[in-house]
Amino acid sequence: MGEGGAPSRRRRLEGPTLVLATHNEGKLREVAELLAPWGLEVVSAGSLGLPEPAETETSFLGNAGIKAVAAARASGLPALADDSGFSVAALDGAPGVYTADWAETPSGRDYAMAMAKVEKLARHSSDKRAWFSCALVLAWPDGHVEGFLGEAHGEWIWPPRGTNGFGYDPMFVPHGHAETFGEMTPAAKHAISHRAGAFRLLSKACLPAR
Ligand code: IMP
Repeated sequence: MGEGGAPSRRRRLEGPTLVLATHNEGKLREVAELLAPWGLEVVSAGSLGLPEPAETETSFLGNAGIKAVAAARASGLPALADDSGFSVAALDGAPGVYTADWAETPSGRDYAMAMAKVEKLARHSSDKRAWFSCALVLAWPDGHVEGFLGEAHGEWIWPPRGTNGFGYDPMFVPHGHAETFGEMTPAAKHAISHRAGAFRLLSKACLPAR
């Protein structure tokens, strides 16, 4: 597997169908929209009844790889998986691959609580750098994988601002901007987001020329 920018001995997607290794309908919709211009048919691992593997790696690419490889093997089709999260320099990159876990409560995910935890742990440092990461891994049934990493760099702020977006968006101001991801329009966020960055690399390297 190579990351974005690596020399291009890439395998391209040829078939019309791609499995998206997610059980989350929101992600399925988002990726189906990104892939729409290529006319690919996207089906979710959830709708095929594929099991959800444990995410046991310590990197975004590693965890996306686990999900993509498992879905490709089980379905016999190429599969795409993502893994994403929020990292804070003063916390040595935490919460990182544990971003979703930091929001877990017995009654579901609570991102106001998760953001408050980040602020409490990082408030004493003058280093405010933070970034979102998104890994996308495309796997084939024969075990071949292609991986891409997109990042959006900026600073964390407190208190959080904005009601657009989701997750940790309200506490992140990307470099070169005054608004948080939570204050930006979805289109403005998507133009610079970690997910869009990873998808640009993937589409250039592995999707058929349009
Ligand atoms: P995943 O579903 O395992 O990839 O978990 C990703 C975690 O990172 C979730 O807690 C998300 O809320 C958070 N996250 C990922 N991308 C974004 C983003 O664009 N904005 C805000 N939070 C994000």
